[in-house]
Amino acid sequence: MLKTKIAVFVSGGGTNLQALIDAEKRGEIPNGEIALVLASNDTAYALTRAAENNIKSVVVKRKAFPSQEVYEEKMKEILNENSIEMIVLAGFMSLLSEDFTSFYPKRIVNIHPSLIPSFCGKGFYGLHVHEAALEYGVKVTGATVHYVNEIPDGGEIILQKAVEILEGDTPEVLQRRVMEEAEWVLLPKAVEMVAKKLQKGN
Ligand code: GAR
Repeated sequence: MLKTKIAVFVSGGGTNLQALIDAEKRGEIPNGEIALVLASNDTAYALTRAAENNIKSVVVKRKAFPSQEVYEEKMKEILNENSIEMIVLAGFMSLLSEDFTSFYPKRIVNIHPSLIPSFCGKGFYGLHVHEAALEYGVKVTGATVHYVNEIPDGGEIILQKAVEILEGDTPEVLQRRVMEEAEWVLLPKAVEMVAKKLQKGN
C-alpha cells in the first residue's frame, strides 16, 4: 500500500514524535510513514528519538539564514528532496510564514495543548499555555489538532479532547496530564486521518 510521506517538525523533548513512532509501529498509521524529522535546534531530544528509531533527521536553524524567506526556501528544498507530502508540527517552536503554510494547504497539522480557541495564538506555547489556563481558573482544558494556515493556531480543527483540571495542579502536572490523556492519543489519530485523505486525493 502507498503511504503518505510525513515530516515531523520538532524543537524539544519530542514526546509527541515518540507517540507517532509508537503508533506507526503498532500499525495505527497504515496510510502514513514518518520519513523525516526536522529540528529547529541541535539539542532537541527529539533528535535522539529519531536516531534510535532509524528515522532520518535534519537540523535547520532559523539563525543560520539571513531572512525568513531563505530559511523557508531551505526547508522546502529539504522536503522536496525527501518527497515529503505532509508536515506535522509536534512542539515546533519556530515561526512559519504565510508563504510557507500556503505552499502546503491542508498538508500541515499542529498539536496545541489547549481547547482552541482558548489559550492559543501569539505567546501561547508549551508550559505558558497551562500557566494561563490555571491562572484563569478554567476547570477543563485539553488539546487540539488543527490544520495550519496563516493565522497562529487558527486553522480548521481536526480533533479535540478535553482534560480535567484538578485541585492543586501545577503547570507541569497539568502539562503531563494533557499530554498523556489527550495529545499522545489525538495526534496519531489525526495524522492517520489526514494521511489517508491525502492518499485518496493523490
Ligand atoms: C506539547 O505539549 C505541544 O502540544 C506543545 O509543545 C509541547 C511539545 O512537547 N506545542 C505548542 O505549545 C505549540 N503551540 P514534545 O516536544 O514533548 O512533543
